[in-house]
Amino acid sequence: MCGIVGYIGHDNAKELLLKGLEKLEYRGYDSAGIAVVNDEGTNVFKSKGRIAELRKVADSEDIDGNVGIGHTRWATHGVPNYENSHPHQSATNRFTLVHNGVIENYEELSDAYLSNVTFLSETDTEIIVQLVEYFSDKGLSTEAAFTKVVSLLEGSYALGLIDSQDRDTMYVAKNKSPLLIGVGDGFNVIASDALAMLQVTNQYKEIHDHEIVIVKRDEVVIKDQEGNIQNREAYTAQIDAADAEKGVYDHYMLKEIHEQPAVMRRIIQEYQDDEGNLKMDADITRDVANADRIYIIAAGTSYHAGLVGKEYLEKWAGVPTEVHVASEFIYNMPLLSEKPLFIYISQSGETADSRAVLVETKKLGHKSLTITNVPGSTLSREADHTLLLHAGPEIAVASTKAYTAQIAVLSILSQIVAKEHGREADVALLRELAKVTTAIETIVDDADVMEQIATDFLETTRNAFFIGRTIDYNVSLEGALKLKEISYIQAEGFAGGELKHGTIALIEEGTPVIALATQENVNPSIRGNVKEVAARGANPCIISMDGLNKDGDTYVIPHVHELLTPLVAVVAMQLISYYAALHRDLDVDKPRNLAKSVTVE
Ligand code: F6R
Repeated sequence: MCGIVGYIGHDNAKELLLKGLEKLEYRGYDSAGIAVVNDEGTNVFKSKGRIAELRKVADSEDIDGNVGIGHTRWATHGVPNYENSHPHQSATNRFTLVHNGVIENYEELSDAYLSNVTFLSETDTEIIVQLVEYFSDKGLSTEAAFTKVVSLLEGSYALGLIDSQDRDTMYVAKNKSPLLIGVGDGFNVIASDALAMLQVTNQYKEIHDHEIVIVKRDEVVIKDQEGNIQNREAYTAQIDAADAEKGVYDHYMLKEIHEQPAVMRRIIQEYQDDEGNLKMDADITRDVANADRIYIIAAGTSYHAGLVGKEYLEKWAGVPTEVHVASEFIYNMPLLSEKPLFIYISQSGETADSRAVLVETKKLGHKSLTITNVPGSTLSREADHTLLLHAGPEIAVASTKAYTAQIAVLSILSQIVAKEHGREADVALLRELAKVTTAIETIVDDADVMEQIATDFLETTRNAFFIGRTIDYNVSLEGALKLKEISYIQAEGFAGGELKHGTIALIEEGTPVIALATQENVNPSIRGNVKEVAARGANPCIISMDGLNKDGDTYVIPHVHELLTPLVAVVAMQLISYYAALHRDLDVDKPRNLAKSVTVE
């Protein structure tokens, strides 16, 4: 979703901003813009579409300024076009602003203060910058005007403001939306994600909600709502810039699928002590073990990982577990148990829906654990505990390695809690995860087979069904999500036994039905379901597991522990989806309408 960068220093801001925005492309956007201040004033360049378009516009003029802000916009208020793209400017062009988030009271503010202003865009953002000018005209300093405006805003925002009459300062604030200050020697930057500005610094300071930050070349001053200065140390962003490059791969998604064995190995290493036993912070183990019920809150792929995690927490650790879609839970909270523990699963750690639930459950005084790939992310900072995925930056919009990492971490957590509860471990998890790693390698090596499956089953179809039973059903939901989000094939995951209660009406001659058969107890029944759809003309693709396979199965994954099959089966589905999208000539890494980090509710 929207991304922000800003630079104040001695170098040419334009190029740094454009490079920064390129690094934020993965978040999903439909227009972009930059503003650079120099002696002549503020130069704004904007464009609908990709950063490459913006670069063409920006390169048409030779602008040399060393302070500026940039933005990628994922449209909420108003279509993606030039006028609605950020940066936005005040009526006299003195103030220029970028904004990530949604201002809920923008109409009220506009009615109260800006009835004489002619707006150039349909955005909620423009009122913010017009308000800064309004209060500046009333005699307030820029800092005071900005602070005043921020105090009036309701909703979510990350803001970067520049003033053409002061080339030595950037003004920054945030509430709910992510924003970091990057610190350097003789320069400072702002960025939605450290990745964007790793080109110049790996030292970052967090900003808390409602703080105002005054950023100059040699100084960063953070103030709380009452104006008190906050001292905050910078931390080192643990991201290897090379991890965020495509390397030899055509797409980030393919690279990230291929990285999964390495991620599994890293997780095994990170969660293992010197004696080869599972290890985890004792406070986390204690809090999870003390809960009488676990509530997993997540969205999309992370929600699907949560469904698999429930199996582990119940079957291994013996803790009743519910899994909820964050955006539903916030409006329809179930009756909670006496000692609940909330687990927030989020690759980005920034998903606004999940964060809204965290804010609410914290108010209720409930303990929380975030499982995320991004250290220092909002969900990580605000929860009582964090478990990291150690998956490296996930750039492709479609989540792949984060899903398998989430499941692996949940399996480790469940085994550790099982031990805490004195439950006999019937699985040597680290050894089993090592087998999973090898199995994933086999599938990745079979990429050409997956490509052939995509050709045979999905080349021209408009829809597809994924079926499975028990844990395979959970994976079929993820398989369907992967396919639909990048190939735009309408795909749905169903429980095999549920088909004849309605869905089977959709089966026609040639309809692809991808069936998972990795579970012994339901192997006969899922195969029965396959026969039912085949009898109605479907084109079934059976992905089974070694030991449960039958003649004619389309692909057989290597044998692994039966509760860990999601980690392996999903990789086949990720690759099949990748090739289905590739064959349709689609933008695999940046599918339409989607954003990587969904920072609005
Ligand atoms: C699908 C996908 C999304 C995310 C969802 C939650 O491939 O990436 O469904 O899983 O938006 O995002 P996180 O995990 O960052 O909270």
